[in-house]
Amino acid sequence: MPGPFSQKEIVLGVTGSIAAYKACDIASRLVEAGANVIPVLTRSAQEFVGPVSFEAITGNHAITALFERLQNPEIEHIAVARRAHLFLIAPASANILAKAAHGIADDWLSTTLLATRAPILFAPAMNTQMYLHPATQANIEILRARGCSFAGPASGTLACGEVGPGRLIETSAILEAAGVLLSEQKDLAGKRVLITSGATHEPLDPVRFLGNRSSGKMGRALALEALRRGADVTVVSGPAQAPLPHAAEVVRVKTALDMLEAVQSRVDTVDVFIAAAAVADYRVDAPAPSKHKHTGASLQLTLSPNPDIAAWVGQHKRPGQVSVGFAAETDDLLNHAGAKLAAKNLDLIVANSVGGAHCAFGADSVLAWLLTPGNPPEPLDLISKEDLTQRIFDKVALLLQS
Ligand code: PMT
Repeated sequence: MPGPFSQKEIVLGVTGSIAAYKACDIASRLVEAGANVIPVLTRSAQEFVGPVSFEAITGNHAITALFERLQNPEIEHIAVARRAHLFLIAPASANILAKAAHGIADDWLSTTLLATRAPILFAPAMNTQMYLHPATQANIEILRARGCSFAGPASGTLACGEVGPGRLIETSAILEAAGVLLSEQKDLAGKRVLITSGATHEPLDPVRFLGNRSSGKMGRALALEALRRGADVTVVSGPAQAPLPHAAEVVRVKTALDMLEAVQSRVDTVDVFIAAAAVADYRVDAPAPSKHKHTGASLQLTLSPNPDIAAWVGQHKRPGQVSVGFAAETDDLLNHAGAKLAAKNLDLIVANSVGGAHCAFGADSVLAWLLTPGNPPEPLDLISKEDLTQRIFDKVALLLQS
């Protein structure tokens, strides 16, 4: 399935920053995702990186000067400004932010920023004091008010030794923000989506727990797709490795009881609830206050059932609210999924295999079916988690209209 970058033309403006070398990775990830990337290096950027790397990565001429001799007889910067689907300035120095905010057009990039009507995304990178300076902050405010978007900066130790905001945010976060801006399908605009994701950890003692292998990749893919379609997204996440999109609100929890409480306090205000978390069905009755000692004797644990979060939402669903669940089964997948669809009063359940050759836990692709009440299961075969989430939200958008 084509993603948001497929066949899109993106101007990647690289400005003078020690982080300029990271723009090569950004260019390469954009090309991988299907975009046509036009690299533009300001004069200062060329002190840090050369055009040849960008030309090799993108297959396009890297623009380095306003009046360079080009084969294209069109007024090149105006033509590119018209064609581009997105201007991504990464890293964005304090200087380019100031020029863009005040309409200064003294090189190719700043001139073309004035000429384009494409969305503009800045990923700032600079010294902390420069970033926090009232002049830079005021420029950012001006640009935001004009509809420009920002990814980062991140905080941390900078090349100059200072600690604070000013680091170029990770490439994945820049791509997430770019994907949201490029996505044309905004059928969830104005909708609120609540997603549970990851595992739960049920403590045995202060250092041990009962858990499972959920990586959070499915929750991440769901959150990203919902954001791309224009939704406000909250993820209640148990422990998981996959990073969640920066644009989502993230509520971190550990146990099933914490997850239930976090969902109960938020679900009333959402249009869509999606239970993708692998919630522990049982918890240890009385976790030991100190670490269990290895005595050599066998250890008996009494487990109590955890509340079923998806079923609770199903019981308290508002008219018009859509709830989606997952069924993770090692055997008899479709029968179990059908039973869960009914028992939890879901509008849609995604049956995914967690046994045999195709185990959904931690994987990038899943063997999946979609089940809705009264209809035969819809097979999706082996499908990437990204493509699966597109199919899920296609159905959710229809359910919201019905
Ligand atoms: O995180 P990944 O590594 O990407 O893996 C993704 C996944 C395998 C975790 C995901 O695709 C998935 O299948 N999630 C649901 C896992 C699960 O617990 O399934 P279940 O069949 O046991 O539960 C059925 C449904 O009830 C699920 O929507 C589950 O979130 C929900 N549930 C279950 C128990 C419980 N106490 N509360 C719940 O809300």
